[in-house]
Amino acid sequence: MKKIHAVYNGSFSNLEEIKISPLSRAYTFSDSVYEVIPFYNFLPIAFKKHISRLNNSCNALSISINIDIISSEIISLIKKSNLKNGYVYYQISRGIDTLRSHIYDDSLDEETFGYAVEHNFNSQKLRVSLCEDVRWQRCDIKSTSLLGNVLSMNHAKKDGCSEVIMHKSSFITEGGASNIFFATDDCIYTPSLANNILPGITRQLLIEEIQKIGLKFEEGDYSVEELSNAKSIWLTSSTKGLAQVTEVVNLKTNLIENHKLFLECEKIFNKKYLS
Ligand code: PDD
Repeated sequence: MKKIHAVYNGSFSNLEEIKISPLSRAYTFSDSVYEVIPFYNFLPIAFKKHISRLNNSCNALSISINIDIISSEIISLIKKSNLKNGYVYYQISRGIDTLRSHIYDDSLDEETFGYAVEHNFNSQKLRVSLCEDVRWQRCDIKSTSLLGNVLSMNHAKKDGCSEVIMHKSSFITEGGASNIFFATDDCIYTPSLANNILPGITRQLLIEEIQKIGLKFEEGDYSVEELSNAKSIWLTSSTKGLAQVTEVVNLKTNLIENHKLFLECEKIFNKKYLS
């Protein structure tokens, strides 16, 4: 396997050389947050937005960090990897306990960890499954507590799906590792940001582009029934870009493959960020 450039608590090495303590609070409590920062043609995409969200996630958990050091570690990982296209995974935990304890010691030093890997940003088509959103109520924090997402996505895998669309009390929230957009013949919709949705950077970048060219667009609360009337559905994330949903296995839909509004969005997004 190719060597993966990584950094742990400020020291750069290969991923396989890093040893962590089992008392890391990331390990015992998932008391930790993370970012996935894509880079294309050797340059990060929306770097400031990712750094700002990482800072917000740390603030939400009262983990104090030096964001300048973290930013430069992420940039160094991209440079050291010498990869053209890929992403950096970067995680910050509250630190390492002396003995597992729910109540943490305020003086713990935060624990940081990141690596850079190659990634292919070619467009994907997704078969997905609709499921109840069983996650906690602060999915706006990019925390590593992703068990709800993991269980739902792996359950969907049994039906040949690689993603899920989640709903809370019949209102659409987001994908398992992505945000959702859908379109009727003439308008694009996405659920409004709330405590149960991650404020996706790709979501934000796409909305900016949609608004620039003046496509009809709305944010709001949308039911499963409204989704089932969509002509096109797509999911967005830093690693997927815009990925068209071809089938929702457990929902009756009338999706049109390569609908004009999806193609228009894909064109403007890829032109700006993936070319
Ligand atoms: N996940 N919602 C969830 C639950 C996510 O996990 C992600 C991304 C998104 C999209 O956010 P962004 O556009 O900023 O990548 C929305 C990353 C890629 C992951 O966990 O690997």
